[in-house]
Amino acid sequence: MNLAMPQFTEGFLEALKEAARRFPTPFYAYDLPQVEREVALFREAFPGARLFYALKANPRLGLLRRLRALGLGVEAVSLGEVLRAYRAGFGPEEVVLNGPVKTPEDLRVLAERPPYVVLDSWPDLRRVARLLPGVRVLVRVNPGLEVATHAHLATARKESQFGFLPEEAPSALEEAQALGLRPLGLHLHLGSHLDRPEDFLRGYRVLEGLRGAVGPLEVLDLGGGFGPALDLKALAPEAARLSALYGAQLWLEPGRRLVAGAGVLVVRVWGEKRTGRPYLLLDGGMSVFLRPALYGARHPVLPLYEGEGEGVYDLAGPACEAGDVLAREVRLPRPEEGDALAFLWAGAYGGSMATPYLDTPAPLEVAWTGSGWEVLRPRGRIEALWAGEG
Ligand code: LLP
Repeated sequence: MNLAMPQFTEGFLEALKEAARRFPTPFYAYDLPQVEREVALFREAFPGARLFYALKANPRLGLLRRLRALGLGVEAVSLGEVLRAYRAGFGPEEVVLNGPVKTPEDLRVLAERPPYVVLDSWPDLRRVARLLPGVRVLVRVNPGLEVATHAHLATARKESQFGFLPEEAPSALEEAQALGLRPLGLHLHLGSHLDRPEDFLRGYRVLEGLRGAVGPLEVLDLGGGFGPALDLKALAPEAARLSALYGAQLWLEPGRRLVAGAGVLVVRVWGEKRTGRPYLLLDGGMSVFLRPALYGARHPVLPLYEGEGEGVYDLAGPACEAGDVLAREVRLPRPEEGDALAFLWAGAYGGSMATPYLDTPAPLEVAWTGSGWEVLRPRGRIEALWAGEG
């Protein structure tokens, strides 16, 4: 992500500087009023659409409960995510379960309170029909399109493992019906971090082409993928037209767009070092923030200190891997030991992708409500990392 400053609520940055003095680093901090504004903007762009927040972007219960209070449902991709959603208070009719693999064990656990299920393949369809009879389902279509994003995030290419081929979709709907499921409609998800409306529009055209073979539907779920720089209004009319063409209610599954800009990762600088390159050494790296190492993602950096003079630095984490560099060639005031800085646009797929690699405890996650801080997730305990091992 290479964007300028996100829009924060007035007062957030001052509160963040104060928090950086109080809380142990690394920690994630979220501007909740800003999330609420993103939800409002999204709704304004897609009036009438039902929103299922992709909770993988940021699954903290305190956040989910607020989104539920705003009337959103959630999109989940594992048994764990569905159970988390239930824990946050969502009911089965507020949860859409996606994913290429749902094991018999997963489905048995869900049998008592089954969510909506998105069918992803023939074996998936038959297994869901066997273990969740009568459940309401969508059929995911893989439109076979190239889209402009990182290769790991493009999920609707012909080669990708998701969904049914467009020509299979009509028979998948029929088979679902014949096997006793309740097919509601079609599902499309093109990939993540898409910033070009054209990519969505090409996907919508593939679904338009299926209208003759499929007939009217109750639901058209056009997935997520809305990048932070995407102009939502450039695709909203087409999404509305397409759902009207099917006589269907429009469902959407935004993740990143609702939370990315509202979140930052705060780390402290513990030294400066010059090898072949000038480094600042941070107490948070790839274990707490994987996106730079995994996708080459670029997140802008905001110093939360004032320093004398300036330098241009690579920012390295504490891991024993040369790839543990969160940003390169960043111009910053010269820090003193213990000064804090923030990686921006880290509210989505930051905390949710933190790993215990190198026995790193889960980072603290806090939310600013507009008047104070709430702990959404306490920092993990080191001893918990080996709990159960003996
Ligand atoms: N619906 C489905 C079926 C999905 O697979 C995803 C994301 C979403 C909705 C939400 O997409 P969003 O609106 O957030 O783009 N870890 C990666 C992102 C992986 C997204 C996977 N699926 C990252 O850090 O960029």
